[in-house]
Amino acid sequence: MGPDTGPGAPRKKIFVKTYGCQMNVYDSARMVDVMAPSGYTEVDTPEEADIVILNTCHIREKAAEKVYSELGRLRELKKEKSGRGENLLIGVAGCVAQAEGEEMRRRAPVVDLVLGPQTYHRLPEYVERLANGGPGIVETEFPADDKFASLPAPERRKTLARGATAFLTIQEGCDKFCTFCVVPYTRGSEFSRPVARILDEARALAEAGVREITLLGQNVNAYHGEDEKGRAATLGDLIRRLAAIDGIARLRYTTSHPRDMDEALIAAHAEVPELMPYLHLPVQSGSDRILAAMNRRHDAETYIRLVERIRAANPGIAMSSDFIVGFPGETEEDFEATLALIRAVGYAQAYSFKYSPRPGTPAATEEDQLPVEAKSERLQRLQALLGEQQIAFNSACAGRTMPVLFDRRGRGESQLVGRSPYLQSVHVGDAPENLFGKLVDVEIEEGYRNSLRGRLLRKEPVLA
Ligand code: 5AD
Ligand code: SF4
Repeated sequence: MGPDTGPGAPRKKIFVKTYGCQMNVYDSARMVDVMAPSGYTEVDTPEEADIVILNTCHIREKAAEKVYSELGRLRELKKEKSGRGENLLIGVAGCVAQAEGEEMRRRAPVVDLVLGPQTYHRLPEYVERLANGGPGIVETEFPADDKFASLPAPERRKTLARGATAFLTIQEGCDKFCTFCVVPYTRGSEFSRPVARILDEARALAEAGVREITLLGQNVNAYHGEDEKGRAATLGDLIRRLAAIDGIARLRYTTSHPRDMDEALIAAHAEVPELMPYLHLPVQSGSDRILAAMNRRHDAETYIRLVERIRAANPGIAMSSDFIVGFPGETEEDFEATLALIRAVGYAQAYSFKYSPRPGTPAATEEDQLPVEAKSERLQRLQALLGEQQIAFNSACAGRTMPVLFDRRGRGESQLVGRSPYLQSVHVGDAPENLFGKLVDVEIEEGYRNSLRGRLLRKEPVLA
């Protein structure tokens, strides 16, 4: 046994800072898992750590700049530590790492390791090489092996369940190539995990106390993982199999593309009670001209009809979306078509963004970019309309009773916060601590813009 292993050996510490989407939250937890067999435990601050990894996101504007300024702070920390004779390894993972590659180590030589999202399972090997004095490493390949397959078995993962809700990545990458989006370049082409592995992970989550699983993928409803018979399963198939697992009371999935909403998935919304009545289905724009320029592969009418079909399957479903305003060439008329689509659909909530060019994407080099003032003005109008719809949806919940899964503690004493079936935050006072992590019936008293307030009908869970 080497000096650094075994029960009496000093524990080494890893700190992972997560930026961006839920998939990064999931990946960060997997990086901690993969380092556990080498004796690493997770800590909450970079000061305590032997390795710091920034798990980055490239979707927002100036994402790379934010990472470089964080690296500036880490450079100081590394200096301080080395003054005390301690070593600090600095890694950058995720989509900014993928996009910057070698450039990252040139601009920030303090970085020891640059790791794209498809290579996390190789982290222990790289750390060992670096700890032995090896040169800096940049790994941004898309290897053919399944990175998930090389991770520790679900039941051995330390980070597996941190509460009653969990993320589970089932699909990665995207083949759609929307003209504004970096994802197909940073996450690579579509890849689906096999059904059996997902079921194993979900069973382990359920045993660890998880009641609600959110299935993740950049284009999650393009899922086509192999089943036990070697056939491609759809997301609808997978949801039915997951819903049958004991203990799994709630399922969600995100993010979907309208083109991949097939009949089986729509039917699951009608037939699988565990599938929550909430769907994030980004449309981006309501103008056919802009939708074509974005390469979204559908028009506004097709989207509206699709929502009608989903609502025919599950009338109470809460719809959510992403919108981009000020895409190159967007006229006032195009923008009004987006407002018209929002009125036609009626959203429970939505995310909206000003278009911002991403280097390397086709829309970034379009000539008719809009001035920032025009984008800001449109965003304000769009958000005013979406805000009205959100308040209307939340207010209409008052007086209803709905199951809430408590997954956070509120600020006030004996306050618990949970999620409604429609993904709203629900605040409840006078809640016994033993209801934490449980599904409980709550009568909604009032709906606000961003949350609901309710009271317990009975102080016991509907599902243990
Ligand atoms: N500019 C503005 N918003 C963008 N998004 C993705 N790329 C861009 C961009 N270049 C938004 C889209 C997507 C969400 C995750 O981020 O609305 O659905
Ligand atoms: Fe990006 Fe989503 Fe379009 Fe894929 S479908 S290119 S992830 S916006």
